[in-house]
Amino acid sequence: MRVQRADELRRSEESASEPLENFISIKSYPFIVKEMKNKKQLSREAKAEPESYYFELQASWGLTKHMGGLDATRELIEACHIDKDSYVLDVGCGVGITACYMAKEYGCKVVAVDLSKMMVERSNERAKRKNVEDKVEFKIGDAQDLPFKDGVFDAVICESVVAFPKDKQKVISEYARVTKPGGYVGMNEVTWVEIPPPELVEYMSRALGQAEFLNPDGWTDLLKDAGLTGIVARVYKTSALRQWASEVRQMNPRDYLGAWSKLFSLCFKSPAVRKWIKEISVPPRSVFRIFKYFGYGLYVGKLCLLFFNATMAQQNS
Ligand SMILES: C[S@@+](CC[C@H](N)C(=O)[O-])C[C@H]1O[C@@H](n2cnc3c(N)ncnc32)[C@H](O)[C@@H]1O
Repeated sequence: MRVQRADELRRSEESASEPLENFISIKSYPFIVKEMKNKKQLSREAKAEPESYYFELQASWGLTKHMGGLDATRELIEACHIDKDSYVLDVGCGVGITACYMAKEYGCKVVAVDLSKMMVERSNERAKRKNVEDKVEFKIGDAQDLPFKDGVFDAVICESVVAFPKDKQKVISEYARVTKPGGYVGMNEVTWVEIPPPELVEYMSRALGQAEFLNPDGWTDLLKDAGLTGIVARVYKTSALRQWASEVRQMNPRDYLGAWSKLFSLCFKSPAVRKWIKEISVPPRSVFRIFKYFGYGLYVGKLCLLFFNATMAQQNS
């Protein structure tokens, strides 16, 4: 099993982001979080619920995102060997941007799930607008308990999702379970690229829907422990400007501006928005150096036939 380290990665000419150089292993990060939890500094357990005000806000805003934008999406799709014959599951699809993009640009069949009913409604609207209703199906579903049989999909992907559920290992094991032997599991997740100050960890979790981010080893271990092989981990640093530019490109500038003006109008109408603004209103000083600590990683593993057979035998016994 080969984990491609960030310091082995070279700058990709097409990518808007910069592969991380001089990668520092930060295995100690989970201990920081554990200690903070012990001290009850984390106000609530990391959790994602359909009624979570953070996702309610994003769904009414009509905008969900992940780091790296469209470049990262394309790189993930290609690392998972998705083509027109693939049957793909997109977990935590948000407003359906990637699911519709895959159907339109790659011609594959896509099923996409999200915990939030409102996200599924937004996604269906998007599929209609993009004329891909015959290729994409959206459903309500929990990443921790996927509503699919074993070994169905050629690839399971997710972007900025595993950070939210409490039981991250269960999520990745579910992804592996519904993947066909020889298929791929790929994720794009926010990654701590340097040990962050504890107050920044706490603030980011509070501001971003109780998310819990891991370091590259943490994300990679989840794939390994689910029995996936040939793991590739590509970790990138980015900047506020690049991230912003990638989001605009992913949506198209008109929709993007429309989503922001909607957010401003929601400030007056929506309790969810007001609650979020309150959560982010007093940031620690380290937030101004966020991109020193904060990057994203693409993590991909393959389900080998042997592991699939062993799991099936275990289930049948
Ligand atoms: C940051 S958004 C990313 C959405 C989308 N993947 C994108 O890149 O635009 C996270 C999404 O994950 C969904 N989510 C969170 N926890 C989930 C879970 N346990 N099962 C399914 N979806 C979940 C949220 O409702 C939200 O739509």
